Amino acid sequence: MPKVLVSAGPTREHLDDVRFLSNGSTGRMGYQVAAAARAAGCDVVMVSGPCQLEPPAGVSVVRVVSALDMLAACERALPTCDVVFAVAAVADHRPRLRQPGKPPKAEAYALDLVPNPDIVATLARAGGRRVIVGFSLDATTIDGLQQQARARDKLARKGLDLIVMNDVSALGSEHSAVQVLDAEGHRHAQPLQSKADTARWLVDLALHRWRTRFPPRAS
Ligand code: C5P
Repeated sequence: MPKVLVSAGPTREHLDDVRFLSNGSTGRMGYQVAAAARAAGCDVVMVSGPCQLEPPAGVSVVRVVSALDMLAACERALPTCDVVFAVAAVADHRPRLRQPGKPPKAEAYALDLVPNPDIVATLARAGGRRVIVGFSLDATTIDGLQQQARARDKLARKGLDLIVMNDVSALGSEHSAVQVLDAEGHRHAQPLQSKADTARWLVDLALHRWRTRFPPRAS
């Protein structure tokens, strides 16, 4: 069975020891993907940002806080992994400097932010016999074709095999309706269903792709 790496949850980018920038990801989708991969018989390592969920039984969990921590943990796990699901909602930016302690509250002030590294693109650049799956979350206000064009661009730019499209209505919800685009230009759609069912379907799709792309070498 392939070994699976899942990134999950939000990241926190600390301004000081108390305040941070983050987002509303609950981690549910990533945890469901990890559970589904484990249920399919895979060894699973999940690198998780801070969230309230109980990790699925049998999954090895590495807890991280920031995007830089998440990148380092994923890079450590990658060499033994065959399939990667980048489900984490990584903060796009972090403060250039983290202040120590809790500086007193200021009036209006500007934040000096720098971009975070793209974790899944960095993992994809490592190459190897791997299937890399990314996610693309868009506002419900953009239409389906625009959403597909953006997802296709991300798939190519980040070097992914599959990209899962969903919209912000999935954030924090128990349900999602996803479509997947693959690197050959095919589209696979699923109806609105529980995230557990979506996760099972995604894991099947990615494992099938890994098996067909990388059949066991004849000895
Ligand atoms: O570019 P965007 O944030 O829309 O891409 C989303 C996909 O890229 C998700 O799979 C997410 O986990 C991954 N990502 C990442 N590192 C980042 C930003 C996004 O791995 N810094």
